[in-house]
Amino acid sequence: MDTEEFRRHAHAFVDWMADYLDEIESYPVKAQVEPGDIAKRLPGAPPESGEPMEAIFRDFREVIVPGMTHWQHPNFFAYFPANSSPPSVLAEMLTATLGAQCMIWQTSPAAAELEGRVMEWLRQMIGLPEGFTGVIQDTASTATLCAILCARERASGFRTNEAGLDDAGVFTTYCSRETHSSVEKDVKIAGLGRENLRMIPTDDRFAMVPEALEDAIERDLAAGRTPTCVVATLGTTGASGVDPLAAIGEICGRHRVWLHVDAAWAGTALILPEQRWMIEGIEHADSFVFNPHKWMLTNFDCSAYFVRDVGALLRTFEILPEYLKTAEGDRVDNYRDWGIPLGRRFRALKLWFVIRSYGLAGLRAIIRGHIDMARALAREMADAGDFEILAPPTLSLFCFRFRPPAVTDPAEIDRLNQALLERLNASGALYLTHTRIREAYAIRFCIGQAGTAQRPVDAAWRRIRDTARALPGR
Ligand SMILES: Cc1ncc(COP(=O)(O)O)c(C=O)c1O
Repeated sequence: MDTEEFRRHAHAFVDWMADYLDEIESYPVKAQVEPGDIAKRLPGAPPESGEPMEAIFRDFREVIVPGMTHWQHPNFFAYFPANSSPPSVLAEMLTATLGAQCMIWQTSPAAAELEGRVMEWLRQMIGLPEGFTGVIQDTASTATLCAILCARERASGFRTNEAGLDDAGVFTTYCSRETHSSVEKDVKIAGLGRENLRMIPTDDRFAMVPEALEDAIERDLAAGRTPTCVVATLGTTGASGVDPLAAIGEICGRHRVWLHVDAAWAGTALILPEQRWMIEGIEHADSFVFNPHKWMLTNFDCSAYFVRDVGALLRTFEILPEYLKTAEGDRVDNYRDWGIPLGRRFRALKLWFVIRSYGLAGLRAIIRGHIDMARALAREMADAGDFEILAPPTLSLFCFRFRPPAVTDPAEIDRLNQALLERLNASGALYLTHTRIREAYAIRFCIGQAGTAQRPVDAAWRRIRDTARALPGR
């Protein structure tokens, strides 16, 4: 493809992209396809000769788009959001065009220096104290793995990287029962063993109970194990619990245990001064992660990882083969040593575009709007008489269930709510997901799309209410 053809197609694609965003509400939110529907429309073997872009783009529109769930749809209230936004998309187009591999300063000096600068902006934006230094990772799962590996190295005097785990003893990790499953996965990958992960009980607001954490640490110490890392969560995935950092941090400090804070979703809300209560005690933390790719209007992938001791991070990951040595040496940040992969995308660009394009005031207004809408809707549901709020909105996520007064059997209430969720999602009009709250089947409602305003939220509530009240057996 020559550049003239590229120009022509790129213009056509941008027109399609703008139309898609204008017309997104005409798509079903959740893909209305069965397993295999898309695969059977794709040839089993690759083409021998190149095909015209018109044909490829037609198949994108006719085969791929109908099989997509539309995450940017204003009626997407499932999981946590995975935001995109026009400034972020524009930056991604430039990133793809530059096609730079940003593993070391020399391979892309501007990418390295912009990353340093926007991470410092982010630190200020979310109120992390000075002394935290940031680096962009692909996901929160990876960032938490980095934290657990650093914790393991620090606890072993940086011996396990050298000698392996054989004679290292048992390293224990702690998180609450509400913690995201990525922690369990990371503990497995780090070689620490799932059996050595302690799931600490939570209180009635889904937050870790510090006394139970201290008991667990003391039991492990008494048994000769090495308490290594505590993962505290701000905004748990099921019900947006917020672990008490100050109390947890003091315990970690007393026992010299690494404190990692997973604020994957809720971290964005820290741009609001009124939500900074969540990081009271942050001075105890060794590392912190949040995902601008969830709620801060930045395309996946972009996970902001902050550490207090860059030296410990580098000591854990540094490896310097001859072919990667450069003349700049220590005068620059070579981000290849700040995480797991060598190769790195130019992720800072989209973050820079988003922050500059919306400004802090613009971002705050959007996030505050989401939180206000969630709180108002939870109140309205609670007042409806036949709905129950199972987890109130700490931020913009809450969990509810339909609970008609005539139905009292817990299993029957679960069945009704499962049927309600299936009907709602099959309608294509909105998309919700579920969790369990103290055994009960609960429907999550999370507001977080750039384009979600009061109208889609009101329409969603009307549909939820009308569908529930029309269910057979209610
Ligand atoms: C609290 C929490 N931590 C971690 C993750 C994993 O995020 P990622 O997909 O960036 O690994 C999630 C995902 O929703 C989450 O809710």
